[in-house]
Amino acid sequence: MIASSSSLAEHIMARCDVLSTLTEEPGETTRPFLCPSAQQVHDAVRAWMCEAGLTQIHVDAIGNLIGRREATGRIGAPALVLGSHLDTVPDAGRYDGILGVLLGVAAAESLRETPLPFALEVVGFSEEEGVRFGVPYLGSRAFAGTLSPSHLERRDANGRCIADAVAAFGLDPTDLPDGPYRPADMLRGYIEVHIEQGPALEHAGAPLGVVTAIAGQSRLQLRFGGRPGHAGTTPMVRRALRRDALAGASEYVLAVEAMAEETPGAVATVGQMAVIPGVGNVIPGQTDLSLDLRHADDTTRRTLLDALLHAAYQIAERRGLEFHILSETHQDAVPMDAGLSDRLVETVATITMAACPTLVSGAGHDAAILAPHVPTALLFVRSPNGGLSHHPDEAVHADDVATALRALIAIILRLAAECASAGTEKDST
Ligand code: GLV
Ligand code: MN
Ligand code: MN
Repeated sequence: MIASSSSLAEHIMARCDVLSTLTEEPGETTRPFLCPSAQQVHDAVRAWMCEAGLTQIHVDAIGNLIGRREATGRIGAPALVLGSHLDTVPDAGRYDGILGVLLGVAAAESLRETPLPFALEVVGFSEEEGVRFGVPYLGSRAFAGTLSPSHLERRDANGRCIADAVAAFGLDPTDLPDGPYRPADMLRGYIEVHIEQGPALEHAGAPLGVVTAIAGQSRLQLRFGGRPGHAGTTPMVRRALRRDALAGASEYVLAVEAMAEETPGAVATVGQMAVIPGVGNVIPGQTDLSLDLRHADDTTRRTLLDALLHAAYQIAERRGLEFHILSETHQDAVPMDAGLSDRLVETVATITMAACPTLVSGAGHDAAILAPHVPTALLFVRSPNGGLSHHPDEAVHADDVATALRALIAIILRLAAECASAGTEKDST
């Protein structure tokens, strides 16, 4: 091995600091899909991939950055893929996504001189957060070949579609894939490391945990339509003359909170609202809002979503408003690969000399998109501060990053040993 996992972990932390300064908004980390600062991130990570001995480093048509190390003595062997995403939410922390990409690069660097019977690929997915186009996982969907025409028709706040964004970034939209980047039989698996973004591992006093499943999620854009009017001259009387879209939407936000609270395990968030015309002395004539609903059980999520939409129609009717669903995207809960995850649990237990917790992820991850395509495992690293994430104070302990790197290297070596002994068995039969 080239350097100890502790010193590589210090490098990773420093690299996360560097990438956090590559942003669209000075003073914060804001890096939506294919924004100009994504180019700077590609340049930095490409250089680190190169130092780690990865070759064939390229950016695919959706903006994923991919580097590869061939299997020992064999070009074009199936690859074990390591990675996560490079985009961020607005005013983000510095570890969400990035950490998993840089851990992949560090694992490749550590194993640079170690013979492997399979190729390694490290991927920085270009889009996971769903900020720019309201649909998450564009990078991993393209990689898995599940980007659909309906995704490509989406428009950002400036009316640009995904093909426009791809072209503006200097890529060719006609190269966007209509199939997977690699067929499943050319992939040995996908292992993603990600901060937990929740409090479970901190409560358990454990540096690492293995995810058994990623909760399903529904994301919708909704509209309450009313009637604008003069704020000073339109009487309040029993709302007879007012069709206040913001008042209806506000009542709805509280209904969403109350109904989700009554459903064990559900989380529902309205995180975005646009008021039109958005003027202090005009009754709001239109209010658009987002709805993010998640639950580990798909039936419960669907049932709650139906109830939430019914409540919206009821509020609208009572207030003389219109209610419309502008767009919706649904992702069912996704189990991780049991065999790969069991091996990861054993590996973590060996490395930490303690039982490895398993947990369900409430956050979405690229692993959710890769799992139906290739055996996938997701390793969580403890998030301090109660799991604070999607926030500039998001944190991770350098010691935990070092432990994660050791676990990642160990699982790769274990898979390599299994692959080699399967090959030997085949040779001797
Ligand atoms: C990704 O961060 C998500 O919203 O789950
Ligand atoms: Mn993430
Ligand atoms: Mn995130």
